[in-house]
Amino acid sequence: MKIKYLALIAAAVAAISCNCKNDKSLVIKTDVPARPAGQESVIGLTAEPMDTVRIGVVGLGMRGSEAVRRLTYLPGAKITALCDIEADRAEGARKLLVDKGMYEPVCFSGEQESWKGLCQREDVDLVYICTDWLNHAPIALYAMEQGKHVAIEVPAALNLEEIWALINTSERTRKHCMMLENCVYDFFELNALAMAQSGLFGEIIHAEGSYHHNLDPFWDEYWHSWRLDYNSKHRGDLYPTHGIGPICQALNIHRGDRFTTLVAMDTDPFTGPKSYEARNGKPCPDFKNGDETCTLIRTIKGKSLLIEHDVMTPRPYNRMYQLVGTEGYAAKYPVNQFCLKEKLTAEANEIGHETVYSGDKAKELQAGYRSVILTPELEEAAKMVGGHGGMDFIMDYRLVYCLRKGLPLDMDVYDLAEWCCVSDLSRISIENGCAPVEVPDFTRGEWDKVDGFKYAL
Ligand SMILES: NC(=O)c1ccc[n+]([C@@H]2O[C@H](COP(=O)([O-])OP(=O)(O)OC[C@H]3O[C@@H](n4cnc5c(N)ncnc54)[C@H](O)[C@@H]3O)[C@@H](O)[C@H]2O)c1
Repeated sequence: MKIKYLALIAAAVAAISCNCKNDKSLVIKTDVPARPAGQESVIGLTAEPMDTVRIGVVGLGMRGSEAVRRLTYLPGAKITALCDIEADRAEGARKLLVDKGMYEPVCFSGEQESWKGLCQREDVDLVYICTDWLNHAPIALYAMEQGKHVAIEVPAALNLEEIWALINTSERTRKHCMMLENCVYDFFELNALAMAQSGLFGEIIHAEGSYHHNLDPFWDEYWHSWRLDYNSKHRGDLYPTHGIGPICQALNIHRGDRFTTLVAMDTDPFTGPKSYEARNGKPCPDFKNGDETCTLIRTIKGKSLLIEHDVMTPRPYNRMYQLVGTEGYAAKYPVNQFCLKEKLTAEANEIGHETVYSGDKAKELQAGYRSVILTPELEEAAKMVGGHGGMDFIMDYRLVYCLRKGLPLDMDVYDLAEWCCVSDLSRISIENGCAPVEVPDFTRGEWDKVDGFKYAL
């Protein structure tokens, strides 16, 4: 009797462990639309070089009006058209250009779809989109259909439907569709990428990125408080791209590796409902977005990424940016630090038994690894024009430089897809008890066509 009982237990345990190990149905899959016949990938896409990039800017709030200011410093960039639903915002940007004695752009405003007029203009090569999130993909899709390249603020797409639509439209129209992810151009990230690409950290096997930014003082600054409103209605990591973008370049995502699976977990929304009620004078009992959302992603080459989102708590600003390699380590926050394996015993400190390069020692180490795109002239101009310390100017510079020379852009529509998909896929995971979710191969089979991330020069 006892033996029979034990045998039953053993059989049950075997059945359970067998299920856990092998049952692939535990992973949630989303639809991957087949690439339409006759359509090709846009990896390495180039377009005809152009002497001057004629730009139409849509959305002239905090970010868009700053973009207009920055673009006035870029040789070869000319703003020919402006659009904001609010006429005074379009007029403010127009006045800036005219007062600088530059040129007279044509303005569109007043209607929800006034941007259609801008997209139809023959004197616009690039539509630069800085509206609230809900308008990003509709404007970009329409602009590409009108034969324009598009550059879209972060996050460029909010869900898988928008992502696949942007991919298919870019592939079919052969137009560039780039997300304006500026953090890949911050000085530390450019430098650390050059260090990683030199092999200093060995093989990068894990990386972390985040967006910790207490937005409570800023919710009212957004047009009709669109951002808090969106957070109140959606669960998941709603702003993953600043954290994930720079580390994906170091991990060569869709340039030799690709995401396979993602799992996510969030806290309850402790702060959001209070912020909402304080501003709207009524409670929001069904506020969706948790104060903290964590996402883990695994790649086909066995690497892992940790991505975090917290725009609610008083935690200090932090994009994490950590690269963990077999031979070394780089971290940007809370202070710049590096660790190298070979120095472990020679200069071990007492607490962690590792050599930490920080302060002047870090600067000395960094000095040997300058990014190939960061010429002294570009660095000086970026620091003078500014925009998050200069990275925004470097982003605009690279976009305009590559378009003028007819080179592939630094970021393509598959980067956009991989970095934005975290929002929708983290939501799916969370809503299903933190279940693993398959990350689609947005390149549809071409993720290892390119060997490593490189800039076109
Ligand atoms: N990359 C970064 O560091 C960074 C920083 C801040 C904001 N952003 C992004 O920039 C975008 C804009 O943010 P913001 O802070 O400027 O917000 P904002 O609210 O100040 O500006 C949004 C603008 O869009 C306009 N708009 C809304 N509907 C429109 C329509 N149908 N047609 C034309 N214009 C319309 C509004 O009138 C407003 O001027 C967002 O996607 C945000 O996530 C990025």
